[in-house]
Amino acid sequence: MTKLYVALVHHPIKNKRNELVTTSVTNLDIHDISRSSRTYGAEHYYIITPLKAQHELVNRILGHWEKDKNGAYNPDRQDALAFTSIANSIEEAVEKVKEAEGVNPLVVVTGANFEEYDGKMKDVCRKANIDKRPILLLFGTGWGLHASVVESADFRLEPLIGNASDGYNHLSVRSAVAIYLDRFKEALD
Ligand SMILES: C[S@@+](CC[C@H](N)C(=O)[O-])C[C@H]1O[C@@H](n2cnc3c(N)ncnc32)[C@H](O)[C@@H]1O
Repeated sequence: MTKLYVALVHHPIKNKRNELVTTSVTNLDIHDISRSSRTYGAEHYYIITPLKAQHELVNRILGHWEKDKNGAYNPDRQDALAFTSIANSIEEAVEKVKEAEGVNPLVVVTGANFEEYDGKMKDVCRKANIDKRPILLLFGTGWGLHASVVESADFRLEPLIGNASDGYNHLSVRSAVAIYLDRFKEALD
């Protein structure tokens, strides 16, 4: 069965003017994406940021729940956070997946505004299955993944498109992760 690793990228990210920036980690993204990923059987959730101060913040948030005596009353949250960790870069996350799986993952990128893409979740799952490689699914923050990440990826996923008649399309990253996780499950069924 194809294995899935989820990562939230804070660098390299683009801002409103398409410039390369590093975004800040948010508490909600740590908790919600961790719980969704764990629920859908992902192997691990990486929070990617090169900023040491942000590492401390993430570790404090994760460590807080591990050590909290009251955590005993909230085992689900503890369980979800146990498989969440930091990577300094996308390359480091790829390396960690390779260490765990013995093979390089297919790096798959997501975005709301791709003009060109390689296919749907079922297509990349088929490819991963044939190649016997895990998937590392990258999500953006800020105004999305920087072009350098999108261009160098192994697979660009078809964007999620809703039904809004005026074309409104502004999902939070947490919603986008949950939808793609459900599509991953459907693709494996
Ligand atoms: C650009 S960030 C926006 C972050 C924002 N601060 C928030 O509210 O979450 C949203 C990320 O979620 C994913 N995403 C959002 N909408 C999407 C869509 N329609 N199709 C595919 N991916 C989408 C992409 O990974 C994108 O980089």
